[in-house]
Amino acid sequence: PRKIILDCDPGHDDAVALLLAHGNPNIELLAVTTVVGNQTLEKVTRNALAVGTIAGITGVPFAAGCGRPLVRTIETAPDIHGDSGMDGPTLPESTIELDTRHAVDLIVETIMAHEPGTVTLVPTAGLTNIAMAARKEPRIVERVKEVVLMGGGYHVGNWSAVSEFNIIIDPEAAHIVFNEKWPVVMVGLDLTHQALATPEVVAKIEAVGTKPAKFVMELMEFFTKTYKDAQGFDYPPVHDPCAVAYVIDPTVMTTRKVPVNIELTGTLTLGMTVADFRAPAPADCHTSVAVTLDHGKFWNLVTDALVRIGEV
Ligand code: BDR
Ligand code: CA
Repeated sequence: PRKIILDCDPGHDDAVALLLAHGNPNIELLAVTTVVGNQTLEKVTRNALAVGTIAGITGVPFAAGCGRPLVRTIETAPDIHGDSGMDGPTLPESTIELDTRHAVDLIVETIMAHEPGTVTLVPTAGLTNIAMAARKEPRIVERVKEVVLMGGGYHVGNWSAVSEFNIIIDPEAAHIVFNEKWPVVMVGLDLTHQALATPEVVAKIEAVGTKPAKFVMELMEFFTKTYKDAQGFDYPPVHDPCAVAYVIDPTVMTTRKVPVNIELTGTLTLGMTVADFRAPAPADCHTSVAVTLDHGKFWNLVTDALVRIGEV
């Protein structure tokens, strides 16, 4: 199995990402870390622990990380994720105890404790923790196998005309992560806007019939409504599990190797992930972008994970 650290801000789609990572046998979840994003650090951490409890995750450290971006002020997403950051389902009291380490330390320690080239970072939130980890212990950069992140978009934005939420909330952190020489796979909006939870998908999840599946249904119900109201989607794009799905099976999507950098000074384009599609890509290009998704294969991975998780 592929060893991953999931750095997240649950978040409806982060919750699905966590369930997919836990339920898929090709993934070994080494740690779950949280960062301010969809809601405050306190709220997303509570949500992460609740999802871990619902999924029956044991023996995996959960740690809280940065409570604000490197430079900017905090910007959350209540229009999409509600006041709790994961509105909709009623959350259980967590049975998981939060690790006492700071997420940045847990990330560094975990990477340094494993063989080089074996740990993949899967950030599904602002990149504050990851950037801090790279600065605190630069040796992690050559040790990490790859960074497969949900964020950005080479043609579309969702938080501005050209910028995506996870990047624009901490563009300086994103700049650090995209400019370190580790392999970066950007699973951006171009890809995740294909990962729609259609009625057929929701029906399949419902058919699983377990409590964790019901929890996903309730998440999707809320997400469907906010994505319709706030962004005019008929069905919600379930962004974050796409990054986990790529790690499980890269054939679930196509990617293209192109240089990507982060706009930090634009007046209209702050946080834009500027992708250079001119051919040929430079020989030392270490970034690639996700292009097309196999919708059926992707959602099969999610339902399969729920079936495997079973009744907790
Ligand atoms: C990203 O922003 C967050 O609101 C979601 O959880 C996802 O990670 C989509 O732009
Ligand atoms: Ca997220």
